[in-house]
Amino acid sequence: MIQPSGDSVGIDDLSVYIPKLFLPTAGEFSFARDIDPAKLTKGIGIEQMAVPDGHEDAATMAAMSLLELMKRNEIAPEEIGKIYIGTESAVDEAKAMGTYVIGMLEKIFGQGSFQDCSTVEFKSACIGTTLALESLSYWAAAEDDGRVGVVVASDIARYPFRSSGEYTQGAGSVSLLVKRRPRLLSLEPDFGSFTKDENDFFRPPGAATAVVNGKHSNLCYLNAVTGAFDAFAKKALWRGTISLKEGECPVDHITHLLFHIPYPRMVEYASAALFRHCWKGLPRWKVIEAEIGTEPQPSDYPSFDNFSLAEADFAKSFARTRLFQEEFKAKVRDTTLISRRVGNIYTGSIYLGLASLLELRKLLPTERVCFCAYGSGCSSLVFSGIVQREAGSLPPMNIERSLDGRTQILLEEYERIHEGQMEKGILPPSREFALVSIDDQGYRHYDYLE
Ligand code: CAA
Repeated sequence: MIQPSGDSVGIDDLSVYIPKLFLPTAGEFSFARDIDPAKLTKGIGIEQMAVPDGHEDAATMAAMSLLELMKRNEIAPEEIGKIYIGTESAVDEAKAMGTYVIGMLEKIFGQGSFQDCSTVEFKSACIGTTLALESLSYWAAAEDDGRVGVVVASDIARYPFRSSGEYTQGAGSVSLLVKRRPRLLSLEPDFGSFTKDENDFFRPPGAATAVVNGKHSNLCYLNAVTGAFDAFAKKALWRGTISLKEGECPVDHITHLLFHIPYPRMVEYASAALFRHCWKGLPRWKVIEAEIGTEPQPSDYPSFDNFSLAEADFAKSFARTRLFQEEFKAKVRDTTLISRRVGNIYTGSIYLGLASLLELRKLLPTERVCFCAYGSGCSSLVFSGIVQREAGSLPPMNIERSLDGRTQILLEEYERIHEGQMEKGILPPSREFALVSIDDQGYRHYDYLE
């Protein structure tokens, strides 16, 4: 990353918008799908799924989180140089979602107020927002006209009824304010990537729900994140961002690890895979072997399937070791606080992890936060940032309180929204952006309704 002379670049503040409706996973839903509720609340880790109302789409949610970010920070439209939107829930095949978002915001700030601001949509499954953040941080470092940039994540995670993805659905938007001398996180210069052509999750043109190869997607995620972490660590060690003493590994120098959160249990699988990968060969690996034995080797098994079963067992045993459990509780567990009550919001979910740490007041000055983003298809990007002294003075977001104020809906209502059969919606829009009509040409008309 280009470092402007004397200035750091990073995330100054963030805002979160979650729809006002939710469906609990336990109860009517688990009963109708014939699934033990404990599997959903504990095995998957999602207690409530956020559901967008009939008048909402990814563009209205993006406008809501961006409006909140501007209000929190008293930012005027002319102070914003770029709005980069990460989404895989595009509302148009050609027109950038950001132009609709600007149209909505101009209903409040005045027509033409965003004229000197450019916008582009980043599509790369759940990693789009992170790639947008990487690009915008280069812009913020190079540009010195005093303006700020905004990265907005906005998505609706939607899977077919009765599929294994259905109980991981969610919706929401996160906006990140990116600028020089950030108050929250200053980005470090090392970005590690991993990319490979995979069929783990995709949505062909015209399809309303994603095609998912569930178990395969978990493996792609683990492989990509571990690969990108290696690339990140190699650069951080080469540059001296991280220096190791005898018996140490790079994760020892990270205070908080944020992963993409398709569902909270995935974060546990990911951190177990990463710590196991990093600890092998270190003195502490002997402690692990004393507790759970040595790793299975393919040559010890008659077939690859037998080896895979033994490998899965070993991974579970590793996740139960005392050493891993201590590290998981200290560095990872708290990042899933909000996702448990929202579900997957695709490209913004890793930043819900950051919001969770802020809500819990867990971020302390000088701590290193490492982001391990994943997008199906597939790619991973790993990078880090240092918590700034002013982080504690950011106004509280009170996300948990606003989640407490949401309206629970019935299974039948959720199913009608899912199928696009809710013309009037459930709650009348109140002090929010709403999709009011789609005309004969397919152009979408939005308004801010009091
Ligand atoms: N009580 C408590 N726990 C229970 C239980 C019960 N009654 N029954 C089962 N469980 C546990 C299982 O033992 C398992 O835990 P362990 O791994 O510790 O054994 C856990 O619940 C999950 O059970 P399954 O593995 O059977 O879960 P599943 O197959 O039903 O669903 C999934 C998992 C395949 C990932 C599915 O949710 C899915 O298809 N999701 C969509 C794709 C996805 O999210 N993939 C993640 C990686 S790709 C990505 O990250 C991009 C993205 O956003 C989509």
